[in-house]
Amino acid sequence: MEKIVIHGQKRLRGEIETHGSKNSALPILAAAALANGESVIHNCPRLSDVDAALRILTHLGCRVRREGHTVLVDSTGMHGYEVPDKLMREMRSSVVFLGAILGRTGRAKLCTPGGCEIGLRPIDLHLFAMEQLGVRLQEAGGLLEFSAPQGLAGARITLSFPSVGATENVLLAAATAKGTTVLYNAAREPEISDLADFLNGCGAHIQGAGDSTIVIDGVPRLHGANHTVIPDRIAASTYLLAGAMTQGRICVKDVVPAHLGALLPVLREMGCDMTVSGRWVCLSAPPRLKRVKMTRTMPYPGFPTDVQALLSAALTIADGTSVIVENIFESRYKHAAELLRFGAKISVEGRVEVIEGVERLMGAPVTAPDLRGGFALVLAGLAAHGKTVVRGVEHIDRGYESPELLLRSLGADVQRICEDEERATQKKPADAEKPDVRPQSAGGEENR
Ligand code: UD1
Repeated sequence: MEKIVIHGQKRLRGEIETHGSKNSALPILAAAALANGESVIHNCPRLSDVDAALRILTHLGCRVRREGHTVLVDSTGMHGYEVPDKLMREMRSSVVFLGAILGRTGRAKLCTPGGCEIGLRPIDLHLFAMEQLGVRLQEAGGLLEFSAPQGLAGARITLSFPSVGATENVLLAAATAKGTTVLYNAAREPEISDLADFLNGCGAHIQGAGDSTIVIDGVPRLHGANHTVIPDRIAASTYLLAGAMTQGRICVKDVVPAHLGALLPVLREMGCDMTVSGRWVCLSAPPRLKRVKMTRTMPYPGFPTDVQALLSAALTIADGTSVIVENIFESRYKHAAELLRFGAKISVEGRVEVIEGVERLMGAPVTAPDLRGGFALVLAGLAAHGKTVVRGVEHIDRGYESPELLLRSLGADVQRICEDEERATQKKPADAEKPDVRPQSAGGEENR
């Protein structure tokens, strides 16, 4: 087991580059199974969720090779159509393989994705959309068996909610279906456009991705393609908030500023000076953040639910009371209880979180409840006085590539510690949790 240890109150300064988007890379890797031949995916982040996707591809019979941030997938010999329970559970969004496997083999066998730390995450919209495309479903004991005896056929599909995963599954399944599919009320996230760009590079005919109506003219088959994954807008948002919380001055380069369109005005409202140019976003934080009256999470281009926990952490030290309303997932405030341990003042009632800013947070031992909620605790630790220990790091590793290295490059005091090794080398294991008594260096930029 690993933990992240932070000695807070270091002002972050410098420039960083974020990794490729996790939420783009996952459906694109699934799409590589649909495209018959070799695909080369560049800017593919090194994350445990991506590793899980690569294991699914290998299980399906694809040949997979990773060279740094490039992943090569050769799906020529793909023979499998089943994702076993164990692999389904490794990655919560593995349901996105459904459309790809169905499109490639005409059948698929998956387990119902288990419960999830941010709500039940039902897949009814995925199932509804697949049925519209001519897919039959048999369910027994949590095992879902899909088949399309007559082949997949284009259809007019209206989603009752613009689900990201369901939209991706429709793109994947309809790309090689017979005829035209028109998808209404589609998700408009940049990751949808990235997936469509990859599929079009493989020979698909998809128009309108990024809008709420997408038209997919089915083609008989797809071939492999080269593709570069878009930058991770959630990771970029995370590091900007880290700068905001530490009176920092940081630049995040190689981002698509338009993808951060909902966050930038919020950062300005918090008193940060934001400069945007080309593929850069730079932030200069004020001595104390201002509160943000009301933030509502919404489907893109609204404020992303994935940034909600991170913004909550930042608002704990803002001057005044802020309100967040979570409209996407029903139980996405698990970080709130952990933030209280830092001395934050937060109350949650249903989908509404009220955050009364405090002057200072105090470091604490905490446990990551989920991916973004976990990083919210790291953010709190960066701003807090004293030492913070974050456990449950495996959640954070699903979506952030070596965050400790990146934060250290900005001047943070962050270590990743393997608890087993620590126990083996320490005479007195209890020392790890003793209060921090290291002398603080005097004043200046580094220690506020
Ligand atoms: C994706 C992202 C996730 C992000 C979310 C919303 C990936 C790998 N994950 O997740 O980081 O937080 O979009 O932006 O891209 N729903 C149903 N029935 C369904 C499908 C969804 O009720 O069949 C509900 C969900 O429970 C949730 C809401 O719709 O409340 C949004 O889900 P969805 O857009 O599908 O999110 P994911 O694709 O799971």
